[in-house]
Amino acid sequence: MNNVSKIEAQKAVLTLPNGQTHELPVLQGSTGPDVLDIRKLYAETGYFTYDPGYTSTASCESGLTFIDGEQGVLSHRGYAIEELAEKSTYLEVCYLLLYGELPTQAQFDEFDGHITNHSLVHEQLLYFYRGFRRDAHPMSIMVGVVGALSAFYHDSLDIDDPVQRRLAAYRLIAKLPTLAAMAYKYSLGHPFVYPKNEMSYAENFLNMTFSLPTEPYEVNPVLARAMDRILILHADHEQNASTSTVRLAGSSRANPFACVASGIASLWGPAHGGANEAVLTMLNQIGTADRIPEFIARAKDKDDPFRLMGFGHRVYKNYDPRAQVMRETCHEVLEELGITQEPLLDLAMQLERIALEDPYFVDRKLFPNVDFYSGIILKAMGFPTSMFTVLFAMSRTAGWIAQWKEMIQEPTQKIGRPRQLYIGPTERSYVPMDKR
Ligand code: CMC
Repeated sequence: MNNVSKIEAQKAVLTLPNGQTHELPVLQGSTGPDVLDIRKLYAETGYFTYDPGYTSTASCESGLTFIDGEQGVLSHRGYAIEELAEKSTYLEVCYLLLYGELPTQAQFDEFDGHITNHSLVHEQLLYFYRGFRRDAHPMSIMVGVVGALSAFYHDSLDIDDPVQRRLAAYRLIAKLPTLAAMAYKYSLGHPFVYPKNEMSYAENFLNMTFSLPTEPYEVNPVLARAMDRILILHADHEQNASTSTVRLAGSSRANPFACVASGIASLWGPAHGGANEAVLTMLNQIGTADRIPEFIARAKDKDDPFRLMGFGHRVYKNYDPRAQVMRETCHEVLEELGITQEPLLDLAMQLERIALEDPYFVDRKLFPNVDFYSGIILKAMGFPTSMFTVLFAMSRTAGWIAQWKEMIQEPTQKIGRPRQLYIGPTERSYVPMDKR
């Protein structure tokens, strides 16, 4: 693997308020900014560092994904996301994330066989679905059923056994589409559709989601390719909120199914994976182009909590390379489906143009992110908005489990335990209730 392990480059010198100095090693990765190693800071000086939101903190070493937010670069194991989206498949990217290299044909066939053969879920899991209301948000179902996998697959819970870890990874990648399609079918009151081994990963998911036992269903190859590309674009994204959640949960040695369920919970929020759903809700709320200025003004008003959903990113301050591919895929899908006049897409394009010219957005480097376009494609493909984040969870499962595996294999791995800047009352005596 073309993986350069970290090297100590120089030392930085920190002057403390008491005048003492403390040397901090400066570590250099294979690319990206150098980091100040503060691991011994508290033990040697009695100071913590303060970084809410972790905007300046590297929480781990990782060889999976590299992002340069200033340049709009995203790569997995050194391969640019644009190239992977064009030339690879989601399952090949899963292999790359898990094992560090692109597979040979024989390695891919073996991996594909494992994933295909693990796509069925235990029949008993069906009762979990039946316990939910039909109008339950599918993400609430996913949080529950993915966590529940740990109750079914006892032979893949020993995190110290590499064979069991691999089995857990296969199971999660294989079963997520089945569980996601079941969440959709349950909301409609339709029968669940079982996976079909002769289909590709994306075809199988579309078939389980949209086919009915009563009539023939042919998977449209353009839509299957678009689905696969959407999965590739969301497969991993470095140490974002949900991945950090998975790592933190896993750092206590919790089992991988429970860890991935925690990632799904974190992804659900509208500032993260829930944004693609929120984009559609926002476009519907705006309704017509003449109302765009009103919403732009609201997004700029600091007294109004409204934000332009699908704009801005913690890391990308130039453009989101995934958004570019997603924009092209969006047009391909709309053309294939004969949607020449999609009012929401027109609205989205006008909003994009106006926002990109507005100094508020230009000065803050707020560009459309991947979620801005994915919602429109998914809507055109027939997914209800409530399923958008479920699809994100399905694809991100590869990244979550690969990052979890990387962490578990790290010999110096420790439980994650941030500290705090305490601002509450100092010690005081308990006051009995009748004296308060
Ligand atoms: N609309 C209006 N103003 C915004 C927006 C927005 N979407 N995003 C950021 N800003 C402003 C923000 O108010 C702040 O202004 P000021 O400097 O005057 O106080 C400035 O831009 C910097 O924003 P921030 O909140 O400090 O940036 P952040 O890195 O903490 O937040 C974000 C990143 C993605 C949470 C945020 O841009 C946002 O809420 N975007 C909308 C939600 C969204 O689309 N999320 C999907 C992210 S991509 C998929 C994923 O990774 O899950």
